Amino acid sequence: MIDRIVTTGADSEDPQEIELEVTLRPQDFASYIGQDRLKQNLRLAIDAAKKRSEPMDHVLLYGPPGLGKTTMASVIAHEMGAQIRITSGPAIERAGDLASLLTNLQDGDILFIDEIHRLNRTVEEVLYSAMEDFKLDIMLGKGPSARSLRLDLPKFTIIGATTRAGALAGPLRDRFGHIHRLEFYTPEQVEQIISRAAGILNVKIDSLAAKELATRARLTPRIANRLLKRVRDYADVNGDGIIDASISKSALQLLEIDHLGLDPADRILLHAIIDSYNGGPVGVETLAALTAEERSTIEDFIEPYLMQIGLLERTPRGRKVTHKAYVHLGKTMPAAQDSLL
Ligand code: ADE
Repeated sequence: MIDRIVTTGADSEDPQEIELEVTLRPQDFASYIGQDRLKQNLRLAIDAAKKRSEPMDHVLLYGPPGLGKTTMASVIAHEMGAQIRITSGPAIERAGDLASLLTNLQDGDILFIDEIHRLNRTVEEVLYSAMEDFKLDIMLGKGPSARSLRLDLPKFTIIGATTRAGALAGPLRDRFGHIHRLEFYTPEQVEQIISRAAGILNVKIDSLAAKELATRARLTPRIANRLLKRVRDYADVNGDGIIDASISKSALQLLEIDHLGLDPADRILLHAIIDSYNGGPVGVETLAALTAEERSTIEDFIEPYLMQIGLLERTPRGRKVTHKAYVHLGKTMPAAQDSLL
């Protein structure tokens, strides 16, 4: 797999990257740029919960990685004046791990579970009753002498995040009172996010360069902030540290990110569909084999943006590239296919 600068996943191995995200993370709705409809809905839910002095209903946030699900969870906690604990589906291995997390919460606390679709079945089942009536059912012992024990839990709120709402078991999904999708940002919003980050990090960038970066950041704040750092490195080494349009163009060229924000992995995928399958349709498993990428990498990280900007389509028979993809790659669409569009 290619090491991608534009990957939308948080690099949880890289402490610098985590620090960057935390430094730049907006604290409240006022400093959170974009996702306006979501903010309005959450504002209402938070105000209502506060008025009743109750914790808010459980919240499920879904959508492509890098759009701010974790950030939004911490903003919700801040706006509620609540404590937040952060964990993830794969980190809760056994029912006992969940029990220890839940029994250590206090009334009003928020438990954020990232990648909630990766919880295992037994943990998920314990979570059902915990979410529904704040009770914890645990089994003591095994076999005929096994007994079940019901513990009262504090009134908490779960905020779950997932890249795929469809991968969540129905009964779990049904226990969330608020289910919201995070949308891609507009280029103008990404530009504002870049300017805000540049201000916080003390990076000098002119407005043309901010625009240039914004058009290549895949409409995703995490990538925008990462590009800003890489371009700042380039400006420090090859110039006087000030990022202007020409510095940002050269830096992005070096990073092999084209004017739509595509990197080599995106282009390899599009070329594979065009060159080996005449533009598609082709199944995702075949594409995974052809490009040596994991299926989940293709589905979670590569495809959402390609679909968003209209280069790729998902059909019941597989993935198809669009006329726009041919044009972007400087290729001619086969006549028979062109006429179908
Ligand atoms: N940094 C990352 N995402 C952001 C957002 N949505 N608003 C402001 N700053 C951000």
